[in-house]
Amino acid sequence: MRNRPFTFDISIADALLSTYDHHIERYLSDMPGMFADTAAYTAQLQQENPLLYEVYEIKLPEVAGELLHGLSVVHPGQVGDEYFMTKGHFHTVLATAEVYYCLKGEGVMVMETPEGDWAVEPLRPGSVLYVPPRWAHRSVNTGLADDLVTFFVYPGNAGHDYGTIETQGFRKLVLNRRGETQLVDNPRWLAPEERMS
Ligand code: F6R
Ligand code: ZN
Repeated sequence: MRNRPFTFDISIADALLSTYDHHIERYLSDMPGMFADTAAYTAQLQQENPLLYEVYEIKLPEVAGELLHGLSVVHPGQVGDEYFMTKGHFHTVLATAEVYYCLKGEGVMVMETPEGDWAVEPLRPGSVLYVPPRWAHRSVNTGLADDLVTFFVYPGNAGHDYGTIETQGFRKLVLNRRGETQLVDNPRWLAPEERMS
């Protein structure tokens, strides 16, 4: 594990880090139940299993005081009307924030709190996005021609909690309706007081 200062480069054109220790690939088949149109998901998966997104990380101790960082690359595409996106998660230690810096492409970050407050912020090259403590976050690539590439930094002890998001998704869906990006209420989403404990 690294415990000395280090430097690396980001190649924006290739969406690559010059050094990384961990490469995560998420394919369509890794995302059952995450896209709203389940029939479109099943039909698409019968035809193809595209790579939806990749994460390149520098491995560091997962403890408070460290800052984990890396590159997230969401490829362009759709499932039904819904753009390709990351799974999205809360941090297990809810009181931990994250910073994203957009390097390439166009997209949005969909966010919400455990109480159901929600926010959607744009991501364009040069945008810095601050995800405060307690806000779940999901990157969505709304540019159908290019990758959405972001650099992220978050506390080493944050951890990832995919639980609620995996079962009911975020409150807002980001859809491509006849070439226009629209935010639509997620019909599966339940307010915290309506959920079974
Ligand atoms: C780390 C973080 C990003 C995401 C990455 C993939 O806390 O937010 O590194 O992990 O964009 O998204 P998920 O983890 O939701 O599959
Ligand atoms: Zn995170």
